Amino acid sequence: MSGYFITVEGGEGAGKSSILQTLGKKLTAMGYDVLTTREPGGIEIAEKIRKIILDPTHTTMDGRTEALLYAAARRQHLAEKVLPALESGRIVLCDRFIDSSLAYQGYARGLGMDEVFTINQFAIQDCMPDMTIFFDIEPKKGLERISANKDRERNRLDLENIHFHEQVYQAYQKLVLKFPERIQVINANQPFEQVEADAMNLIVSRLTNKA
Ligand SMILES: Nc1ncnc2c1ncn2[C@@H]1O[C@H](COP(=O)(O)OP(=O)(O)O)[C@@H](O)[C@H]1O
Ligand SMILES: [Mg+2]
Repeated sequence: MSGYFITVEGGEGAGKSSILQTLGKKLTAMGYDVLTTREPGGIEIAEKIRKIILDPTHTTMDGRTEALLYAAARRQHLAEKVLPALESGRIVLCDRFIDSSLAYQGYARGLGMDEVFTINQFAIQDCMPDMTIFFDIEPKKGLERISANKDRERNRLDLENIHFHEQVYQAYQKLVLKFPERIQVINANQPFEQVEADAMNLIVSRLTNKA
């Protein structure tokens, strides 16, 4: 496969989505062929699976069922959107991927990181990201950014208590130690332009070394 698969990870309010938007544009302006996406990525089957997961009437949904459904939606987005882009040599920038499942469901929800990894391995086969950028910020600070922005849509996870977000943060730290080659850390508690520049430098140096 000739493309390059980059994922961004981190807690709520770390700045992932806003920075991916501007980064995608800047990389495109530099001449890179970039696809910016996030799960479920507008893929109809994946969107339908998401609806099942998020349906508030599904109060009896088991944690493992939920994890399998997330993995199924991930598979479909990968198969329909990410893999074709990588196969045609594009750079894919994806807002959250497997590490989010490991952190949120595996660790914070207590299903076990190894077990969640196993079902995700089945879903993604050998398509692990070539590089992952972890946006490092204390959960409390990330959540403060979200509550400061009145326009931002709030999802179910934004409203979880601080303990849950601390658990997610701990999980990411474990992942950084477990995958030191793949996961690069940037300090997300800096002005927007600096975080963006740090992410850009990491990406460009990887792409330059790869070429
Ligand atoms: N470096 C930064 N400094 C201050 N505020 C930021 C920074 N990066 C993003 N924000 C703001 O924080 C909020 C959450 O950003 P967002 O990109 O949605 O985070 P995420 O996708 O990681 O949850 C938004 O209101 C955004 O404008
Ligand atoms: Mg986001």
